Amino acid sequence: MAINRVGLIGFPVEHSLSPIMHNAAFKALGMYDWLYDAMSIPPDILRLGLREPRDHGYIGINVTVPHKEAIMAYVRPDEKARAIGAVNTVDFRSNIGTNTDADGFIDDLRANDVSIAGERVLVLGAGGAARAAVYGLVGAGAEVAIVNRTRSRAEALVEHLRVSAGIGGLRLMTPNEAADWGMSLIVNCTSVGLHPQVHQSPWSQNLPFPAGRIVYDMVYRPATTALMRQCLAHNGRAIGGLGMLARQGAISFELWTGVKPPIDLMRRVLQDALESAHKD
Ligand code: ATR
Repeated sequence: MAINRVGLIGFPVEHSLSPIMHNAAFKALGMYDWLYDAMSIPPDILRLGLREPRDHGYIGINVTVPHKEAIMAYVRPDEKARAIGAVNTVDFRSNIGTNTDADGFIDDLRANDVSIAGERVLVLGAGGAARAAVYGLVGAGAEVAIVNRTRSRAEALVEHLRVSAGIGGLRLMTPNEAADWGMSLIVNCTSVGLHPQVHQSPWSQNLPFPAGRIVYDMVYRPATTALMRQCLAHNGRAIGGLGMLARQGAISFELWTGVKPPIDLMRRVLQDALESAHKD
């Protein structure tokens, strides 16, 4: 039986949950001739390392840290990838690189019945995850403001989205300005609060937390972050980033296979894997 191979490149990739998520979906669908594996490629040999999956007939790959930007030189980035400035999915049949993070994020907000169009949304962070979030949010009709520790990086994000995607009207704020802005949704796109720094929050403890808001935290380890707890303590609603992880993967899955994957199962598999890792 010829195997249809897909996989993940990154550095490191050993702890990635993508292989178990995709392989569980293949199994559930009876797609026994599909296999997803992870390849660790050091950044200084990315170009050479890419030959490995390409020459071995892989149908496509996911791309993770630190290759998401550098790989743009070796594939044909589509409009979305160019706008976000990062590729997380490649189809070797066309050599097109796309980005499924923004759609995975917006899909998960919608799956959680979070209103976006016409809403004020505060994005915390200004890295690649924030670029995808802002791109997706603006596309879905939100009014977006950005807070980042390093202001120049937030300025670069605004400039990037203006030039590459024609997005205007983004606002940069200080944390104090943001606290009074009246947003309905706060999205954490920083790595603050990620295991093992579980007590850290991107929302300073010295700043009043606005009541009754929704927090979406792209951090999914731990399942409930310090930021989510702050929000819940102020009569808000908190959503972790596991659904986005499942949904960005689901979009890649469908792109490679032409088959809609079982998203709920993928999410459950991720959750089980995180819970059992936590027990160790
Ligand atoms: P990614 O591509 O996943 O978005 P990144 O490009 O490294 O990752 O961006 C990480 C984000 O987390 C940045 O917004 C970073 O803020 P700076 O631009 O000031 O570096 C933010 N971040 C990381 N650690 C932080 C911390 N301790 N406090 C506040 N922000 C932090």
